[in-house]
Amino acid sequence: MNKLLTKIFGFSSANPLYTAAGPTAANYELLKKAVEGGVGGIVTKTISVKPARVPIPNIYSTSPGSLINTELWSEYSYKQFIDEELPKIKSLGVPVILSLGYTPDDMTKLGEYLRNNYDFDAVEFSIHYVSKDITNITDIAASIKQNITVPVIAKFSPSISDIPGLVKALDPIVDGFAGINSVGPTFDFDIETLKPYMGSTDGRGWLSGRAILPIGLHFVSSIAANTSKPVFGVGGVRTAEDVIKYLMAGASAVQICSHAIINGPKVYEKINTNLLKWMDKKGYDSLDELIGLMKNFRREELNYLAEAPILKPIWISDNCNLCKSCATVCTHEAITFDSKKLIIDYNTCVSCGLCTTTCPHDALEFSTITI
Ligand SMILES: Cc1cc2nc3c(=O)[nH]c(=O)nc-3n(C[C@H](O)[C@H](O)[C@H](O)COP(=O)(O)O)c2cc1C
Repeated sequence: MNKLLTKIFGFSSANPLYTAAGPTAANYELLKKAVEGGVGGIVTKTISVKPARVPIPNIYSTSPGSLINTELWSEYSYKQFIDEELPKIKSLGVPVILSLGYTPDDMTKLGEYLRNNYDFDAVEFSIHYVSKDITNITDIAASIKQNITVPVIAKFSPSISDIPGLVKALDPIVDGFAGINSVGPTFDFDIETLKPYMGSTDGRGWLSGRAILPIGLHFVSSIAANTSKPVFGVGGVRTAEDVIKYLMAGASAVQICSHAIINGPKVYEKINTNLLKWMDKKGYDSLDELIGLMKNFRREELNYLAEAPILKPIWISDNCNLCKSCATVCTHEAITFDSKKLIIDYNTCVSCGLCTTTCPHDALEFSTITI
């Protein structure tokens, strides 16, 4: 039995990892490498009615694991991509989701071209470069639905403020959701040359990768709480733990972009191996058991500073190697070391919890204490 078997929109993949629309999904040659690297399914680079005129430079590594980009959409003409690349991509033998952009008119034109049944499994439309007005977005969805019979997925931009409102408006039209696209606009530049790292007119670009994982999780859990339709988690996935988080937040599968750009197409296999190991260790037989465990999370009992129960970090001496990183991150200087002993001043400690999450050795645990 394949524990990673993933079913979404009625089609199956060997695992829950899909490429996300981006440079690793630009054409057949690159997608072939992704499939060889273990990806379960494909979302292609977005095509639109006009090929993109892509400014250079357009990808910058802003911090480990995170990128800023202004790569726009595909520089292929839609006819070239659909007629020449898509059949070869489909021959790779995994589910193929075609990403389309952007306006209602674009969708009508693309839909009319695609109507004569090219072989693909679903369509994803990106609401990245269009007005975030709900009526405009439902118009885009309705335009693509006019001509397309395969499932249609709405990919959320993180600039959407009313997530439940947009989900409810789109729910009667689309077949599922994906979230999120890259975050921005953002700005970064070289202080010596005064040149932005992005070649766009205003030097702005869009943030992706590690830094945006918590934003993606917020979107996915909020989308999943407002629909019973399938959701793809996108944004910051680098590890099996990240995949598990997206599934628990309510996603049925995930898409990966930045991590595969930075580390190459072998990343999928490594994540799948670690995902399987974790499931075996925890006794899970299928990914379905994880989906949605956190989507309706609401804390029932809040704890407050200086009110019972008193929660504080507790030192687990057996795990500690006296690296003192906890003392460094404690802004309030509540942690000191006396010879080989860690001392926490519980009167100074404000119970923020940071030391317990940054300790590299799990030597601090947040727990109830009696003073
Ligand atoms: C260089 C680059 C190009 C991208 N191009 C597209 C695109 O054409 N269409 C789209 O919907 N999203 C595009 N994205 C956004 C990704 O599909 C994804 O939503 C986002 O990067 C978050 O995932 P990640 O953190 O795994 O990169 C692009 C991202 C990057 C980094």
